[in-house]
Amino acid sequence: MKKILLTVFMAVATLSVMAQRADYRIIPLPQSVQEDSTQVFTLQDGMGIAYDASNPEVARNAQFLRQWVEELTGIKLQLTPDDKKAAVRLTLGFPADKKAKKPKKGQPASQLTEQQQEAYTITVNASGIQVAARQPIGLFRAAQTLRKALPLTGSVAGGTSASTSPAASAASVAFPFVTIQDQPRFEYRGAHLDCARHYFSLDVIKRYLDLLALHGCNQFHWHFTEDQGWRFEVKALPELAKKGSVREQTVIGRNSGVYDGQRYGGYYTQAECRELVNYAAERYINIIPEIDLPGHMQGALHVYPNLGCTGGPYPVWQIWGVSRDVLCAGNPETMKFLKTVVGELCDVFPSKYIHIGGDECPKDRWKTCPKCQAKARELGLKDDGKHSIENQLQTWINHEMEQFLKERGRDMIGWDEVLEGGLTEGGIVMSWRGINGGIEAAKQNHRVIMTPTDYCYIDYYQLKEQWGQPLGIGGYLPVSKVYSFEPLIPEKLSEEEQQYILGPQVNLWTEYVAVPQHVFYMLLPRLDAISEVQWCQSEQKNFDDFKARLPRMLKLYDRMGINYCHKVE
Ligand code: ACM
Ligand code: ZN
Repeated sequence: MKKILLTVFMAVATLSVMAQRADYRIIPLPQSVQEDSTQVFTLQDGMGIAYDASNPEVARNAQFLRQWVEELTGIKLQLTPDDKKAAVRLTLGFPADKKAKKPKKGQPASQLTEQQQEAYTITVNASGIQVAARQPIGLFRAAQTLRKALPLTGSVAGGTSASTSPAASAASVAFPFVTIQDQPRFEYRGAHLDCARHYFSLDVIKRYLDLLALHGCNQFHWHFTEDQGWRFEVKALPELAKKGSVREQTVIGRNSGVYDGQRYGGYYTQAECRELVNYAAERYINIIPEIDLPGHMQGALHVYPNLGCTGGPYPVWQIWGVSRDVLCAGNPETMKFLKTVVGELCDVFPSKYIHIGGDECPKDRWKTCPKCQAKARELGLKDDGKHSIENQLQTWINHEMEQFLKERGRDMIGWDEVLEGGLTEGGIVMSWRGINGGIEAAKQNHRVIMTPTDYCYIDYYQLKEQWGQPLGIGGYLPVSKVYSFEPLIPEKLSEEEQQYILGPQVNLWTEYVAVPQHVFYMLLPRLDAISEVQWCQSEQKNFDDFKARLPRMLKLYDRMGINYCHKVE
């Protein structure tokens, strides 16, 4: 009897090991997946990944793939330059590109879009797993696809460790024969994190970046200066981050009038910023830093009260909301300060986009400040019925910043308030108060990033029933609503105008999000939903199908030890 039971147990165990198949129905869904599920290629321990070892970027991506396969399945692959022995081959270049006719003399070479630069193919057949891409970035995207296709077995990890917990060892993984062709829909695929209302460690930001990379995002919008704390080190102004990052206490709940009595601080040194820039770049993510100006500046005003219209004193703000104390537009020191700060920002962040904020700048102080009014007169600003004098004063600041950035080869992004005083020449608009700012900017032939509150503000609650959820800012943005977003607004924008929409982004503000577990709870699985908005063609999208694919991603988060919202509405 014992022997029979043991045999049955072993048969089941063998079956469960043998039955582990890859599943290409991942998130975001690739553009084209042609599968022949009747045949498989079996990946096993000791097999090789071949790649061009002379290309360090390709080598790094091969190493990522090797690491992910081992973490999730226990299968140890060898990195090998020997193509013959390899089961997985990473190659650069598409055969079709090589065959394409060279442009005739005098004709411009056909320009590939950013999305085409990211394209990749995966072919699984009897000879193994062939990955091809135009650029190393495509190999990285393909490696992420293979990672997400891996079967997930074994125990679920708790905790929040950055590393993936050990998996049950799989003897082999059966990859059904397939041809996958893929590239993203939008060139800009962003996610934002407010590290000013609350400070998050480098480790947490790296995990955030890992998740963005897992979902094919390529832009991390880093908001790190605020009324409630200045968190970017400026070497020429050493007191700025040291003092401007510390608030003496923080209000409890939604401006209850009761305070926690705890000093709160933390800032990012330039060395740490560079470390993150490199970490992100290895994962093909660009970091867009934001210095929010001329409002949301009380952290800086605390250190330099002479830059405010009233002269202060200004404590680093201890409550939530928008301070009426902003930078004085009429003080020549203000522009000197901004150029020092943004100059160092450009030194640290190579991003072609630099965000200058521009949102929620109350004009109360400017209206009564003699210096601001004198500046408006000097500039000859007049209320033209559409743009107030003070809004035009803000446009003057934007214009100065845009020129300053242009000299450094950078493009300026601003929140959609930058439209209010008349948009500067090359400004990119981040449309957040709905879609109308984005529509207006696109119609004026300005580039736009779509991040309307109704679809993209993941600081809102994701479940209708707020009871049992951590305290949030309010609102209701379920996964299904994020998923339903169509950033090109075809009912309002012509095809020509749609070209100006770079792509969508989700924003995570952190007034009420103080700990990493809460950050990831707010992010996931809404990041999955936005990733299909960003990556998939609109005709590919289907929420029921998405929901059927989601449990495997949630299992992956379990395996990674990352918190998420378990219910999907
Ligand atoms: C914003 O949410 N204040 C841009
Ligand atoms: Zn002033």
